Amino acid sequence: DVAGLVDRFGRVATDLRVSVTDRCNLRCTYCMPAGGLDWMPDAELLSTTEMSRLIGIAVAHLGIEEIRFTGGEPLLFHGLEELIGRAADLVPRPQISLTTNALGLERRAQALAVAGLDRVNISLDTVDRTAYAAITRRDRLPAVLAGIDACRTAGIGPIKVNAVLLRGVNDDGACDLLRYCMDGDIELRFIEQMPIDSDNAWAAQEMMTAEEILAILQSEFSLRPASEPRGSAPAELWTVDGSRHRVGVIASVTRPFCGDCDRVRLTADGSVRSCLFGAEEFDLRGLLRSSEPIEAVDLAIAQKWREAMWRKQPGHGINDPGFLHPTRPMSAIGG
Ligand code: GTP
Ligand code: 5AD
Ligand code: SF4
Repeated sequence: DVAGLVDRFGRVATDLRVSVTDRCNLRCTYCMPAGGLDWMPDAELLSTTEMSRLIGIAVAHLGIEEIRFTGGEPLLFHGLEELIGRAADLVPRPQISLTTNALGLERRAQALAVAGLDRVNISLDTVDRTAYAAITRRDRLPAVLAGIDACRTAGIGPIKVNAVLLRGVNDDGACDLLRYCMDGDIELRFIEQMPIDSDNAWAAQEMMTAEEILAILQSEFSLRPASEPRGSAPAELWTVDGSRHRVGVIASVTRPFCGDCDRVRLTADGSVRSCLFGAEEFDLRGLLRSSEPIEAVDLAIAQKWREAMWRKQPGHGINDPGFLHPTRPMSAIGG
C-alpha cells in the first residue's frame, strides 16, 4: 500500500535525493574551505545495503518516483553502481539521476549507464581553465570535459550542467559556457548562490541574481521564455537565438519555488530532511539498525518518514529577517 509523502501545505514529495557521501574531491570556494570539513565518521554512514533498503521503502510505500544521487561528490562512494543497479530493479522502476562534478566519470560512465543511470547533472561553473582552478582549487577542467564526453558516449541523457556565477570570478565566462553547452546539446542552468556554504560567508549583495545573469546572457544571445510547462522544476527555461537550445536559471533566492517543491532528502548518515533549509532532521538509521522483524521496521520507517514530511516548512525563509543558516552545509545534505 502506498500512502505518499504529503505535507500540511498539500505538496507531495515524489523526488528523493540521496546524499551518499559528504566528501568531495574539489574545494569550491562557495562550498568548502581549502582544508575540507570534518567528514562524517564511518560508523555513522549508511552501507550500500542500508541505503538500498531505504530507497526500496520510499518506492514501495511512499510514492517516490525519482531517485537522484548527490553528495558531497557521489562518485567517491564506491557502491554507487551497485546502488543504482538495485534501484533500477525496483517495481515500479524509479527514474535514476546523478548530480556530480564529473571527476571520475570518464572511467565510470559506461558502468553507471549499464547499472541503470538515466540522467546526469554536472556541476561546471566555467570552461576557462584558470577560472575553474580558482573556484574549485583544483586544476581538473580537462577531466571534467572528458567525463561529460564519456556520458554522451555511454548514452546517458539528457545531460545538464549546473553553474554558480561568482561576481568578478567567472561571470565574464557565462556566454562561453553557454556556447560550450549548446555545441554539446547540453541544457545549462545558472544557479543563484544560496546561504548554505560551510563557512557562512554568503552575502545577499554579492550574489549574482537571476536578473543580472539574464542581462549578461542577453548581451550576446536572444532569449525567449520556453513554452514547456515548468511544473515543480527549479529552473525557469529560455530558448536561445530561436534555436531548440534551452538555458535555465534556478533563482532560489530572488524567485523562490518552494510552493511547488516535490523533494525530500536522505543524508549519508541516514536522516530525512524535508528541505535543504530548516533545522529539523529525522533519524532513520536507529530504526534501520534495530533488531525487530524487517517488515515491522520497514513500516515504522515509512511512518516516521511521513511524519517528517508532514512537518515540512512552507519555504526556505532566506529572505526573512530571522533566517537561520542551516547547521549542516550543503555538502552534507546533498545538492
Ligand atoms: P532536474 O530534475 O534535472 O531538474 O534536477 P534538479 O535541478 O532538481 O537537480 P540538481 O541536483 O541539478 O539541482 C540543481 C540546483 O537546484 C542545485 O544546485 C540547487 O541550487 C537547486 N536545488 C536543488 N534542490 C533544491 C531545493 O530543494 N531547494 C532549492 N531552493 N534549491 C534546490
Ligand atoms: N548555492 C547554490 N548552489 C550551490 N551548489 C553548491 N553550493 C551552492 C550554493 N551555496 C551547487 C553546486 C552543484 C550543486 C550540487 O549545488 O555548484 O551544481
Ligand atoms: Fe564538491 Fe559540490 Fe561542494 Fe564543489 S560544490 S566542493 S563539487 S560538494
